[in-house]
Amino acid sequence: MTALPEWTFAMIKPDAVRKGKAQEIKQLIEIHGFHIIADQKIQLTRTRAQEFYAEHHGKAFFEHLVDFMTSGPVFALVLSKHDAITGWRKLMGPTNSISARETAPKSLRAMYGTDGTKNACHGSDSPTSAGREVKFFFPALVIEPFLEPGNAKAF
Ligand code: PPS
Repeated sequence: MTALPEWTFAMIKPDAVRKGKAQEIKQLIEIHGFHIIADQKIQLTRTRAQEFYAEHHGKAFFEHLVDFMTSGPVFALVLSKHDAITGWRKLMGPTNSISARETAPKSLRAMYGTDGTKNACHGSDSPTSAGREVKFFFPALVIEPFLEPGNAKAF
């Protein structure tokens, strides 16, 4: 019985890119067993950032989030591994980098982020989000058919 790999969408946010930490983060991603199957450096426009984070429209932090995400380039990544979605979220750690330093000091947000806004990275929270987010950044990407987003079932 071999578990099928799963894929997810990840982003290295402007604060970590600005600090020159993107390559170091990518190395850690690979050390933790993920394959980087797509990698693109992109400057988000306000319109694209608003669309990407549309589910948070109307929340108090929305404009602040859009300001931050358009403040510099990001790296958009597609990662593959067994249980990639939960594995990547665990490696990122809690949303707020301040609390991450308390509860998950070895997580990427603890190590590379600053606070609840500047938190170094993003990861899809479900197979549905992973599918939408990969398509948002990589509309032409063809992933092998058996690598469905969220597909972690064994065969
Ligand atoms: S929620 O309301 O529980 O769904 O929000 P949460 O999951 O904590 O965060 C969703 C994304 O919004 C970002 N966020 C913020 N950005 C800027 N300022 C503030 N105060 C703030 N609070 C939350 C958070 O980093 C999440 O971004 P992603 O890219 O999805 O990790």
